[in-house]
Amino acid sequence: MRTQVAIIGGGPAGLLLQQLLHLAGIESVVLEQRSRDYVEARIRAGVLETSAVRLLEQVGVDARMKREGLIHDGFALAVDGQVHRIDLKGLTGGSTVMVYGQTEVTKDLNDAAAARGTPVIFEAQDVALHDLKTDTPFVTYAKDGVAQRLDCDFVAGCDGYHGVSRPSIPAEVLRSFERVYPFGWLGILADVPPCDHELIYSNHERGFALASMRSNVRSRYYIQTPVDADLADWPDDKIWDELALRLGPKAAASMTRGESIEKSIAPLRSFVAEPMRWGRLFLAGDAAHIVPPTGAKGLNLAASDVHYLSEALIAFYAKGSSDGIEAYSAKALARVWKAERFSWWFTGLTHRFPDTDTDAFGRRMQRAEIDYIVSSRAAQMTVAENYVGLPY
Ligand code: APR
Ligand code: PHB
Repeated sequence: MRTQVAIIGGGPAGLLLQQLLHLAGIESVVLEQRSRDYVEARIRAGVLETSAVRLLEQVGVDARMKREGLIHDGFALAVDGQVHRIDLKGLTGGSTVMVYGQTEVTKDLNDAAAARGTPVIFEAQDVALHDLKTDTPFVTYAKDGVAQRLDCDFVAGCDGYHGVSRPSIPAEVLRSFERVYPFGWLGILADVPPCDHELIYSNHERGFALASMRSNVRSRYYIQTPVDADLADWPDDKIWDELALRLGPKAAASMTRGESIEKSIAPLRSFVAEPMRWGRLFLAGDAAHIVPPTGAKGLNLAASDVHYLSEALIAFYAKGSSDGIEAYSAKALARVWKAERFSWWFTGLTHRFPDTDTDAFGRRMQRAEIDYIVSSRAAQMTVAENYVGLPY
């Protein structure tokens, strides 16, 4: 089989890239190692930046998001029970975010691929990339136990943190940067109305908590836990009790408890791999970088990567220009590092670290910074500008 762009991974990055290329008349094949059901069952974060919303509009995969998504003009920052609102819309001159589950984005993109006939091959096993430094790269894989070969002009590595694309770049070329945080997030999803119409990020002496939502009848909450916490130690009631304490009395009073429909613990990590291109291989999304979930930048960064990448590939096919391809890595990384900085900073501001527990100085610094944000419009503008997403 032959195509123009072989896309490894059918998460949001790979599927959105496929639609952006399809609009420009560029053929691609997505190779996804899991089944469609598996991919569409993964629970992910739920806040889309203005620019990610625009990209979904651009590819015409916005109808359900427009119907079911919730536009948020602000969010709350709570400190030990006191709540301060960040007026995203007012502070940014009109920008908002869209609260719409990333799982739903993946479903919508899969539906579009099926309707438009853009090929997505699920359960593609043993994907391997070859001849990436030549003009004739190819990908091998197995489907239903039968060996297959996909010839292409370019390979887009959109296969997430554990994929094969990043390790296909020689170790002496690849440089990675990492910060592992000494805690995790325990998330709970429940079919109950949210405790507030906006998100609440809470820095509490018992640890961070977040009140989020998927709709007016489905809530998503998180609490900071030790990294080695065991779900078995966290029955639903204990989670609700902890949320009530950490989110403060006002949120607690309007919180509806209910049976969890999903519960999981995820570690927090900052990670960036450089460069994001090697020969004819491009990395995009989680294949190249991971952010801690504070601020929900994961899918949003995947969106900006594939925007830059689609522009580069479109210029190559339309004008024969390699300039965009040459510039891709630096351009994408410039935005990646800024989102990494924001996610790292927002995590630092809102969580309890070993040194904010035991070292009184660290805790005082956090409180001083939050007091500064609360009292300074300039500081709030910085937070808001990053939260709605830096432009691209
Ligand atoms: N071969 C083929 N596919 C693979 C392989 C492989 N060897 N390894 C992983 N994959 C697939 C995974 O099964 C997954 O469906 O690649 C896909 C990668 O998807 P994500 O992990 O969602 O990464 P990405 O598309 O970059 O998404 C970016 O969106 O939903 C958010 O939180 C998520 O931060 C993430 C962001
Ligand atoms: C979520 O709803 O899952 C969510 C929202 C905001 C975040 C992280 C996760 O910062």
